Amino acid sequence: MRHRHTPTAIFLLTGLCAGGFLFAPALADELYEFGEYLAGDCTACHQLEGQAPGIPPITGWPAESFITVMMAYKEGERDHALMQSVARRLSDEDMRALAVYFGKQGKQE
Ligand code: HEC
Repeated sequence: MRHRHTPTAIFLLTGLCAGGFLFAPALADELYEFGEYLAGDCTACHQLEGQAPGIPPITGWPAESFITVMMAYKEGERDHALMQSVARRLSDEDMRALAVYFGKQGKQE
């Protein structure tokens, strides 16, 4: 039921926009490390540098956009069977961690 999840998404996005509290240094470090760990499930397909054929790059995105897209897969609003099944395995916290981790990739010098 996609409607059951909507309040969570709104809460999450509101939090991200309103406070920026997720990016307080200590918490951001923890999320980054957790994201790096989770990213092992993604980087087989999504390359950290450059782009694999047929796989869009997902590095350097603003966290809000990243989470919005992942939620859209999870809720079935964005159609792609494979990414939907990937996204359904992720909790809100997983997505935040992945957003922080991938957001910082591809940005070094
Ligand atoms: C088996 C290969 C595979 C794996 C594993 C995978 N993805 Fe994907 N991902 C894809 C493909 C293919 C697309 C393009 C889907 C589409 O056209 O909507 C995609 C699309 C995306 C997009 C949207 C990109 C865009 O430009 O709109 C995001 C964000 C994303 N994946 C994140 C992840 C994350 C995070 C993980 C790990 C938790 C992951 N993916 C794991 C293959 C994969």
